[in-house]
Amino acid sequence: MKYKKVMQGALVLTGFAFGASALAATPSASMLGNSCAGCHGPNGNTQGPATPGIAGISAEYFVDVMLDYKADERPGTIMNRIAKGYSDEEIELMAGYFSEQKYIPLTQEFDASVVRLGDMLHDRSCEKCHEDGGKFAEDSAILAGQPKPYLKWSLADFREGVREMPKKMKRRMDEVHKAKGDDGLNALVEYYASQGK
Ligand code: HEC
Ligand code: HEC
Repeated sequence: MKYKKVMQGALVLTGFAFGASALAATPSASMLGNSCAGCHGPNGNTQGPATPGIAGISAEYFVDVMLDYKADERPGTIMNRIAKGYSDEEIELMAGYFSEQKYIPLTQEFDASVVRLGDMLHDRSCEKCHEDGGKFAEDSAILAGQPKPYLKWSLADFREGVREMPKKMKRRMDEVHKAKGDDGLNALVEYYASQGK
């Protein structure tokens, strides 16, 4: 009787040890995500100053972005190198993880005098794809509360053609630029920056 009990315990222990090593061989989504926290913040919520937040990101957009970085089809200072370190399966896993995290817009300084203009331009030209004032995106990017330097670089890369933007977005961007010039784009950035918690 006593012997049997010990055997059972040993079996349970072996089972546990096996489970643990199997886990180590296939890292979980949150373990993978942890290696991004140093730059993207806890659970993908940016602490600034310039790295974008990736919590609450659309899973579809996340996968597109990571594969584009991997294939050098989207420019970046650091992400092309980082993305190459992950298999497509690991990218899928992380897409699930980050898309499920609650997004917390970054609190930062902004120029209050142009926020209304930015709000108006956003409603007219950007809301269709960057919904709820840019706080939500079905299959594009969250803009509200992203760090200002990141927003500015992204807009500059788009305008200079370094980074490709969807055709319909280009039409909207040109529309803003035609009406208000660089001041219009600047007002949009200040509007998104004003949406911190
Ligand atoms: C050393 C800092 C650093 C680390 C570590 C890092 N990133 Fe990034 N990430 C950046 C920067 C900076 C950008 C902006 C693009 C660039 O300059 O490369 C970025 C951009 C991104 C974007 C694009 C966001 C958008 O709104 O389009 C995604 C997605 C992303 N990173 C995912 C990840 C994932 C997933 C990991 C972990 C596996 C990770 N990053 C690790 C610095 C980092
Ligand atoms: C037809 C849909 C559409 C419209 C309209 C649109 N966008 Fe976008 N936007 C997208 C998509 C899709 C992406 C992701 C592009 C990619 O894959 O890199 C994006 C990306 C962005 C990014 C980069 C975000 C990041 O995290 O890197 C910024 C900034 C941006 N849009 C600003 C705007 C502004 C400002 C307007 C209005 C003038 C606008 N967009 C209108 C679809 C749209």
